[in-house]
Amino acid sequence: MGFPNSVRIVEVGPRDGLQNEAAPVPLEAKVRFVNALSASGLRDIEVTSFVSPGAVPQLADAADVLGAIEVRPDTTYWCLVPNAQGLERWLETSGRLPAGSRGIALFTAASETFNQRNVRASIDESLRRFQEIMTVLQSMPAPERPRVRGYISTAFVCPYEGAVEPAAVQSIAVRLVDLGVQELSLGDTIGAATPIQIRALLRMLLTEGDVGDLALHLHDTRGTALANVLESLDLGVTAFDTSAGGLGGCPFAPGASGNLATEDLLYMLNGMGIETGVDLGAVVDASGVIEPFINHQLPSKELAAYRSAGF
Ligand code: COA
Ligand code: ZN
Repeated sequence: MGFPNSVRIVEVGPRDGLQNEAAPVPLEAKVRFVNALSASGLRDIEVTSFVSPGAVPQLADAADVLGAIEVRPDTTYWCLVPNAQGLERWLETSGRLPAGSRGIALFTAASETFNQRNVRASIDESLRRFQEIMTVLQSMPAPERPRVRGYISTAFVCPYEGAVEPAAVQSIAVRLVDLGVQELSLGDTIGAATPIQIRALLRMLLTEGDVGDLALHLHDTRGTALANVLESLDLGVTAFDTSAGGLGGCPFAPGASGNLATEDLLYMLNGMGIETGVDLGAVVDASGVIEPFINHQLPSKELAAYRSAGF
């Protein structure tokens, strides 16, 4: 088994975490949260989402968030964009970011039913929307263009259709890469995958054809996320999406549970001597910034341990 020397963490708490939190969080708290995250050394932060405010009311202030955060030139500020209308809204505000700090995340799913419920479109239709977005981006001067990552949700298990075939994910992965997406993030959206499923999909993607850079987007609903990270590391994946505190696990929304907590991943990687450039104590501080604004305790195990034991 060979582990890498370093891992890249994509912090998605301000987007994936907050979109699942029921209590409306004030703009000022979101901005302080993002600033605290970037102060911790995180260099990839998904700050908000330009989806329909009707679909995700919590993130209706996307432009205000992107307009107010402190901008570090060495950090990429990712935003979720679902369609041409979302791209237009993003373009209105993203000009304040240095070109190298711009990132947009597109999202589709490996299961038709989930995609239909999430974005009211078939997988084909969502890829057609991405084509529209990519055409606009490709008309921009190259140095101005954002980086683009593509989420494939329900890449392992769908809450409506059950187990997802690796071949279904692979065919979408190839189409996304053909569209010009630079990094794919494979989503265990409902936190149901086990290492066997991780291995089956990664082996297929890593051995058959070029699917660009891969990241794993794990939720920790059933406590399998760190086991899945280990399996992924062993197979050569070195990028993971996490959220501070494991934000997003709302006890009032059945089935909705938080991302793998940034603190939990950091504790394990630190102990394994794998570098991330991220300060664990500073992420604990960032979780402390957002926790008073949600109506429950953050679920991260390491957050609780750090607060009581100091490491
Ligand atoms: N930003 C703001 N408003 C938008 C929008 C966007 N990106 N996209 C659509 N809208 C508005 C339209 O203007 C329209 O408004 P109106 O009713 O006032 O005329 C309304 O939303 C419906 O537009 P339509 O194009 O028919 O979209 P839809 O209702 O089929 O919704 C999505 C499609 C993708 C926009 C919507 O389902 C969505 O935002 N989903 C996001 C889900 C999500 O974030 N999931 C978590 C991420 S994994
Ligand atoms: Zn997610």
